Amino acid sequence: MQTVGVIGAGQMGTGIAQTVAQHGMKVLLADLDLAHAEAGKDKIDQALTKLVGRGKLEADQAEAILARVTPVANYAPMADAGLIIEAATEREEIKKSIFEAVGKVLAGDAVMASNTSSIPITRMANYSPDPQRFIGLHFFNPVPVMGLIEVIPGLATLQETTDRITAFAEGLGKQVVLSQDEPGFVVNRILLPMINEAIFVLGQSTANIEDIDKGCRLGLNHPMGPLELADFVGLDTCFEIIKVLYATTGDSKYRPAPLLVKYVEAGWLGRKTGRGFYDYTGEAPVPTR
Ligand code: 3HC
Repeated sequence: MQTVGVIGAGQMGTGIAQTVAQHGMKVLLADLDLAHAEAGKDKIDQALTKLVGRGKLEADQAEAILARVTPVANYAPMADAGLIIEAATEREEIKKSIFEAVGKVLAGDAVMASNTSSIPITRMANYSPDPQRFIGLHFFNPVPVMGLIEVIPGLATLQETTDRITAFAEGLGKQVVLSQDEPGFVVNRILLPMINEAIFVLGQSTANIEDIDKGCRLGLNHPMGPLELADFVGLDTCFEIIKVLYATTGDSKYRPAPLLVKYVEAGWLGRKTGRGFYDYTGEAPVPTR
C-alpha cells in the first residue's frame, strides 16, 4: 500500500493517519472540510512533537512523517489510494453517506475499510461499490500505542481482501485478531458491558467514581478504571456501541445505563468536552461525584 486515505480527523482518524505515516506510507486525510482535516494534521504534529521532546523520535523523522500526511478538501485525490479507511463518527447514516461518496472514486483494486466499533460490516458493505473489497479494520485508542487491530470480514468479503488487510495491519507493527461479523466483534463485546455495568454501579451509589476505577485498576490490574476509560473513549461513542449491541441482539443485558444516557444528553462526553465522569479543566482530572 503506497497511499492510504483516512476519512475522519478525530481521535481515531488522526491516530490511524499518524501510525500509517510512521510506517512510511502516504496519507490523504479528509474530514467535513479542509479546515477540519488541517486541524487533524495539527494534532498529529503535536503528538510527534511530544515524542521528539521525550527523545523517542528525531526531529527530522517527525518532519518526514508529518510531510507524508496531506489534508484534502474532498475525496477526489483518494482515487490514488490502495486502501481507504473510514474513521468517522460512530453513526451509521454518517458512515453510509461517506461510503457512497468515496465509493465514486474508489480505484478498481482498492479496499474500503471501516474502523467502526460495532456496526455490522455485512450491512455497511452494501453502501460501498464492491462488498467483496469491503472489510472492518478496528483500531484501538491511542492507535500509535495499542498493539491490536481486529480484522472483520463481512459475508461478501473475499479471502484475498482479508489477507491483504491482515498483511497491512501487521505491517503497522500490530497483532491481528480475526473476528466474525457479530455485534461488537470480540473486544467491544466484552469491554462495553463492563463499562456500562460500572456506570450502573455508580448510578446505584455502590461506590464513588474514584473507588470504582481504583477497584478495577488495582483489583484487575487494568491500566485505567472503566469510568476513566469511558471518558477516554468518549461517552457518546460508548453510548452508540452499547445501543448497537442492544438493538442487534435484543438482549436486555446490553440496555444502556440510565446515567450514561443522562451524561450524553448533558453533553458531558468525557475528555474531549472537558467533562465526563472526571473534570479535565484543571491540571489533573478530578472525579465529579
Ligand atoms: N504516538 C506514539 N506514541 C505515543 C503517543 C502517540 N500519539 N501517545 C503516547 N505514546 C507513548 C508514549 O511515548 C509512552 O511511551 P513509553 O511507554 O515508551 O514511554 C506510552 O505511549 C504511554 O504514554 P504516556 O506515558 O503518556 O501514558 P500512560 O503510561 O499513562 O499510558 C495509556 C496511557 C497508553 C492510554 C494507558 O493508560 C492505557 O493503556 N489505557 C487503556 C487504553 C485502552 O484500553 N484503550 C482501548 C480503548 S477501547 C477502543 O479504543 C475501542 C473503541 O472501539 C471504543
